[in-house]
Amino acid sequence: MKPNDVLYKNPSIPIDIRVNDLLSRMTLKEKIMQINQYTLGTNNIENNKGVEVKQIPAEIGSLIYFPTDPELRNRMQRHAMNDSRLGIPILFGYDCIHGFRTIFPIPLAQACSWNVPLFEKGCRVAAQECRMSGVDWTFSPMIDVSRDPRWGRVAESFGEDPYANATFGSAAVRGYQGRNMSDSLSIAACLKHYVGYGASEAGRDYVYTEISRQSLWDTYLPPFEKCVQAGAATLMSSFNNISGIPSSANHYTLTEVLRKKWGFRGLMVSDWGAVEQLVHQNMARDLKEAGQLALNAGVDMDMMSHAYDTYLETLVDEGKISTSTLDEAVRRTLRVKFQLGLFEHPYTPVSKAEDRFLRPQSVAAARQMAAESMVLLKNEHQVLPLKQGLKILVTGPVADATHDLLGCWWGHGEDGDIEKLNESIQKEFGSQAEVRYIKGCDFDGTDERQFKQVEKLSRWADIVITCVGEKGSWSGENNSHADIALPTIQRHLIQCVKASAKQLVLVLANGRPMIITDEVAMADAVIEMWQPGLYGGSAVAGILSGRINPSGRLAMTFPYSQGQIPIYYGRRHSARPHQGFYKDQTSEPLYPFGYGLSYTTFAYGEPKTASHEVKAGDKFDVIIPITNTGQRDGLETVFWYVSDPYGKITRPAQELKHFEKKLIKKGETVDFVFHVNVNRDFGYVDSEGKRFVEPGDIMIFVGDKKLKFTIK
Ligand code: NOJ
Repeated sequence: MKPNDVLYKNPSIPIDIRVNDLLSRMTLKEKIMQINQYTLGTNNIENNKGVEVKQIPAEIGSLIYFPTDPELRNRMQRHAMNDSRLGIPILFGYDCIHGFRTIFPIPLAQACSWNVPLFEKGCRVAAQECRMSGVDWTFSPMIDVSRDPRWGRVAESFGEDPYANATFGSAAVRGYQGRNMSDSLSIAACLKHYVGYGASEAGRDYVYTEISRQSLWDTYLPPFEKCVQAGAATLMSSFNNISGIPSSANHYTLTEVLRKKWGFRGLMVSDWGAVEQLVHQNMARDLKEAGQLALNAGVDMDMMSHAYDTYLETLVDEGKISTSTLDEAVRRTLRVKFQLGLFEHPYTPVSKAEDRFLRPQSVAAARQMAAESMVLLKNEHQVLPLKQGLKILVTGPVADATHDLLGCWWGHGEDGDIEKLNESIQKEFGSQAEVRYIKGCDFDGTDERQFKQVEKLSRWADIVITCVGEKGSWSGENNSHADIALPTIQRHLIQCVKASAKQLVLVLANGRPMIITDEVAMADAVIEMWQPGLYGGSAVAGILSGRINPSGRLAMTFPYSQGQIPIYYGRRHSARPHQGFYKDQTSEPLYPFGYGLSYTTFAYGEPKTASHEVKAGDKFDVIIPITNTGQRDGLETVFWYVSDPYGKITRPAQELKHFEKKLIKKGETVDFVFHVNVNRDFGYVDSEGKRFVEPGDIMIFVGDKKLKFTIK
């Protein structure tokens, strides 16, 4: 028989027919192995370090693969293709979160750029580097709405807003998967963590989440729904317990919503050990029952719990898992493999590292993203950009940091590629300024021995750039912090500088909004650079010198104090708008969602629209002219919010429905447009996800303007 006579091996036959043909040839054991994921290689994330699997069965469905060079993959794949009866290729997954080797800023920072096409380009870069290195599937994007900065994983999200997570998430799907996942430059995306993981109580990782059905539908499900519509190939079930039913055993979210309501046909993989953790969550008696609950609820593939490989055969024999449930999980796994073209191209062509990594256009995209994601938080008396001829002191643990600038996931980013801030600032100013550097102190600890020298140099300088923040390893998974202020030693450093400096600029590198109220009060200017990946140094230097006009806007609120957490813009109205504020301090955040300064100024003109009376099903445009009234070109992001004054179900006071970033040249006026779709933008969902439009008044807010509409 020629290969093409076997239906599943024939590439000209529709995928579903190939899947069913292959499935019909598989034994129970072969089916079970397909829906297991083990690890291959060594992971650099301490928390996820798996035991390296030495004797991986040739029938394994998927592997988390860690090296950069496809040689190990190809060896393993050869084992699967040649030593298994049916020659089913393995699916190789990896956490490529904000770049594989060309490391971009952390996702939270990228969201602050509000530049969706640029973000999508970055995901294309990551896909190309992954696929050429033997990775078919990334566990990204993370689209968990994140409203508690104590939760370390906020770094991996696109912030507090559902629409922002939905928009960046869909761009990631397009960027990773391209037009066709089977091409040699695309990979499968994985939406995670499904669902509600971001609601972690008190910002603690892995814990209970109290999510009403209304909030599930209002806040946590919308990003997933939009990204499923964008064509995401896979999802990951989360660790959290959703109001009593852990998400990895939650039939409602995994099957009724995702499969039945949204029609998702792709693959659902559990998070690492999430099936086993059903035992810790008091949902399952033992690992066997955990496997039964997870698969029956809709988790197709078991990542590292060893529940499916150990117990499925018995569970099927005992009738606790039906053959059709098992078959469906296998079908979904195989379908992704066919979509990726793995049956035709199981091996990764071996190429030189320099042909794969840090290509000029990849570096250019990462540089632009670093520049656009930084947020200028304060700029008193236009201290920035710095004048020429100054004496500049650079200090702080971030100033000579490398690895910590990569953030909590760094793929295969190399420390040697990272631009240091102190060197970049030196280079930026060259002979235009006299730049000196002293580290001052470490990220933490108590060694203040350099402070005397810092004081002396601060007195010498016209301005002191103090670079502080978090280590990369302080955010991300399993990195909940009860105290998100700067460590004491860094606060002391700032105080020490303040006591002797003429002017103080703070540069912050961190993976979460921090409590910086006192430090901001001391500073003349503040730049939030986040953890910027490889190219933060020149981006910060460019903002300091004025070569770059900052354009980032916050994707997550900065609280004024720890006691305000959680604080986010999309709250529902209070029963007493005039009361209920904190008695001991302000109830306002330090910096709200959407905040960020520029070196130029923008004036919002009068918005125009054809009619203020609309009805369900209508689509219309609202246009606002915006003028750059300052002295230099600048990028402006326009945020369009909707607010429903009253309704059968109360709504958040404001909801972001659209945003757009454009360049406006000095003196120019540019129109920004919101294409309103009444059902989508003025309608809302009930606690079962049913969308409706209610007659009555509704408002659009844009900048300092507001427009009233009546829905007939
Ligand atoms: C656990 C994390 O929660 C998840 O985001 C990640 O993709 C997996 N580990 C695999 O590394």
